Amino acid sequence: MSDRYSLLILPGDGIGPEVMAEVVKVIDWFQANRDMTFDVTHDLVGGAAYDVHGVPLADATMAKAQAVDAVLLGAVGGPKYDVLDFSVKPERGLLRLRKEMDLFANLRPAQCFDALADFSSLKREVVAGLDILIVRELTSGVYFGEPRGIHSDDNNPDNEGGRVGINTQRYTSGEIRRVARSAFELARARGNKVCSMEKANVMESGILWREEVQWVHDNEYPDVALSHMYADNGAMQLVRAPRQFDVIVTDNLFGDLLSDAAAMLTGSLGMLPSASLGAVMANGRPKALYEPVHGSAPDIAGQGKANPIACILSFAMALRYSFGEGAAADALEAAVERVLADGLRTADLMGPDGGTPISTAQMGDAIVAALEA
Ligand code: NAI
Ligand code: MG
Repeated sequence: MSDRYSLLILPGDGIGPEVMAEVVKVIDWFQANRDMTFDVTHDLVGGAAYDVHGVPLADATMAKAQAVDAVLLGAVGGPKYDVLDFSVKPERGLLRLRKEMDLFANLRPAQCFDALADFSSLKREVVAGLDILIVRELTSGVYFGEPRGIHSDDNNPDNEGGRVGINTQRYTSGEIRRVARSAFELARARGNKVCSMEKANVMESGILWREEVQWVHDNEYPDVALSHMYADNGAMQLVRAPRQFDVIVTDNLFGDLLSDAAAMLTGSLGMLPSASLGAVMANGRPKALYEPVHGSAPDIAGQGKANPIACILSFAMALRYSFGEGAAADALEAAVERVLADGLRTADLMGPDGGTPISTAQMGDAIVAALEA
């Protein structure tokens, strides 16, 4: 019997459905040519869900997301929905998924494909062969901590303007330990090296972070090499010598900044996948949502110009982290590398010397053909 995996596909808005159509070709290829069966369900999220249900994520869709092995999402949002009330904005659909599935570990790989090394903001020698993974804590920290708000500060005559804005960086030991475990698990399957970043020099939450990551290491993952770095130095090291890292684990705020910076080491937004993982379920698989880093790109939607690679590489991450199909994930990434090496480029990957871009569908077809080869 072949392995069976359930997958909920939420294409969303703008270029979401266009890039997802190419992922479906890839899924069909694996199903026809490898010993795996996918139970695929398609549903709506974002503006597409709002148009039908009046909410950016229907309860029934949320229930499906909780029940499947993995969710694959395209992108949400677009100018048509900018006028909507905050409570039903397309982004709220995505936030609801992340929150209710309790996806606390956000994985952002920064991988430099050799054929695109000249797209990096850094020199080819610095980024060639780069393959790092940033694990960002996603459900706690300063974006969620209480107290928060903007208050009047009337009793303070020295405060010009008379207001104060407050956010609180707050982490429990349990929140730190669980994301640290994710990072160590991932490292064991890669370069076996974790660098934890915080600001223990100036923040108590950073001291706790450092102590708890060290605790998880010493008690559960002594075989993985662990180092600690202040996050500001980490930012410098990422642009100075990024290949020194394997897995980086850090909090929500620092992870937001560091993962965006690392992304630009590798070139186009159209190339960047991500995964968000939660607790391990009874079947041994983590709750999981996979999505490209890019948005719905309304400026190019409907024109067949979108690069489907970010979404296809997000599916490769699903193969690796949800389905335990590491060899299939490697094969898919190799197929992407191959079409790029052959010089095939969507419009976002055209260099200054031009050339003729291929369409979204042509890129999908080329990747399937490379899998075949
Ligand atoms: P965006 O990522 O949609 O687009 C930024 C630029 O990159 C655009 O010029 C776009 O054409 C280009 N681009 C993005 N993905 C591409 C691809 N696969 N191939 C080729 N070019 C690509 O970000 P932007 O413009 O800030 O936001 C547009 C909409 O998307 C907004 O409604 C925003 O709220 C939403 N958004 C949704 C996200 C999500 O679903 N996770 C994330 C970011 C934005
Ligand atoms: Mg960001």
